[in-house]
Amino acid sequence: MAAEAKHFKYVILGGGVAAGYAAREFGKQGVNPGELAIISKEPVAPYERPALSKGYLFPENAARLPGFHTCVGSGGERLLPEWYSEKGIELILSTEIVKADLASKTLTSAAGATFTYETLLIATGSSVIKLTDYGVQGAESNNILYLRDIADADKLVAAMQAKKDGKVVIVGGGYIGLELSAALKMNNFDVTMVYPEPWCMPRLFTSGIAHFYEGYYSNKGIKIVKGTVAAGFEADANGDVTAVKLKDGRVLEADIVVVGVGGRPLTALFKGQVADEKGGLKTDAFFETSVPGVYAIGDVATFPLKLYNEQRRVEHVDHARKSAEQAVQAIKAKESGESVPEYDYLPYFYSRSFDIAWQFYGDNVGDDVLFGDNNPASANHKFGSYWVKDGKVVGVFLEGGSAEENQAIARVARAQPAVADVEALKTEGLEFATKI
Ligand code: FDA
Ligand code: NAD
Repeated sequence: MAAEAKHFKYVILGGGVAAGYAAREFGKQGVNPGELAIISKEPVAPYERPALSKGYLFPENAARLPGFHTCVGSGGERLLPEWYSEKGIELILSTEIVKADLASKTLTSAAGATFTYETLLIATGSSVIKLTDYGVQGAESNNILYLRDIADADKLVAAMQAKKDGKVVIVGGGYIGLELSAALKMNNFDVTMVYPEPWCMPRLFTSGIAHFYEGYYSNKGIKIVKGTVAAGFEADANGDVTAVKLKDGRVLEADIVVVGVGGRPLTALFKGQVADEKGGLKTDAFFETSVPGVYAIGDVATFPLKLYNEQRRVEHVDHARKSAEQAVQAIKAKESGESVPEYDYLPYFYSRSFDIAWQFYGDNVGDDVLFGDNNPASANHKFGSYWVKDGKVVGVFLEGGSAEENQAIARVARAQPAVADVEALKTEGLEFATKI
């Protein structure tokens, strides 16, 4: 039988967050039946990936599909598979593209099917960095788990059921490390986190911010081992992990190991075909790459961050959503000889665990100014940090903010107000933001 060959006006390669929001925007802008396809190696329609490290792992009332298909994460319509079929948008699932030939505008799947397009949106996201990539001894043992997609989340849920109340070692002190250690603790596991840095999430947190989260986690019973890495693993006769050997010589017992040591943008299919920068596919302010008609959105795009006048890549959901909308609006405007404003993004990151939640807007550069009560034992803990560069506030972090307060810190990060007296800013704290 001849392999499948299909043609579409628009193809979105990848079926994650950016793909879901791009499809919704195509729906809004108008797309004819048969014009658009989403090709995804995942077996399900686009969903809100952040749910996987939060609600999906709750001990009770856990989130499950179809509950969190895009675009519910931003308060939008939930696009069920029926939505795509009603619009005549083809969802080509469980299909991995293994070759992209941009010159002939052809994608080839692992099964040999070919897909041609006029306009391509690359939305392949990131893959996890694995300890096997570094050749860590024993890293291929059973129950050493990662979290990127729903199949990974299901493996974790199965391991949690098989190893009830057991010991978990979390390798990594970033987003995955912090969210997963909380989720596993909530499921009554004995949790130990291990990371090499002097404090958690160093790419965003200052020592003053981390002081709160490390103390809060310790008070919840999570053990934290800093300044070392997993150098090897022990396994039993079945190949199930039993212990983590640390570089400093200590050995931690483990029934499950969850590894969150960072991601890598999935750009390899386009190597040598599209200009790249800072590990991603370089785009303009409309997310068009160096190849006309080929766009890159979400985690894979290195785009002009207008506010800071530099090219950046952002691995967060808010940008995945907004870049998708911007690209589709730009594509549709171009078709009718119009244009849209340049992307003008204000970086926004957030996280939630236990009953705590933080938001961050802007840029964490310059001098940091901690304010508020960051005592993890305090019943009224509420604190934040400003970042001040060249006499202006450029970034704001806030733990425990209300919706209005979070809007206020976003306004500050966008407006970049001048600060005459840093000491006064520390004393004024959140009030400085709520006055802007
Ligand atoms: P995304 O990873 O969502 O989608 C990529 C899609 O492409 C996947 O469906 C993949 O299978 C598919 N694909 C890749 N290569 C392919 C190929 N060759 N052929 C076919 N399909 C292919 N951010 C945040 O701001 N707040 C948060 O709370 C969280 N929480 C969070 C939890 C977890 C567990 C993860 C893994 C990530 C987050 N993030 C987050 C990050 C956020 O989810 C991420 O930035 C976006 O999902 C990026 O959207 P993309 O569409 O670019 O990639
Ligand atoms: P990350 O970059 O946030 O953290 C990686 C951490 O790995 C580092 O902080 C460091 O502590 C640790 N590390 C590095 N090498 C190590 C080693 N050899 N041994 C032990 N620790 C080591 O990456 P992540 O937490 O893996 O997250 C993956 C992706 O998922 C990122 O794109 C992230 O943005 C995204 N994500 C985001 C959120 C959110 O925004 N709330 C939540 C979950 C995941």
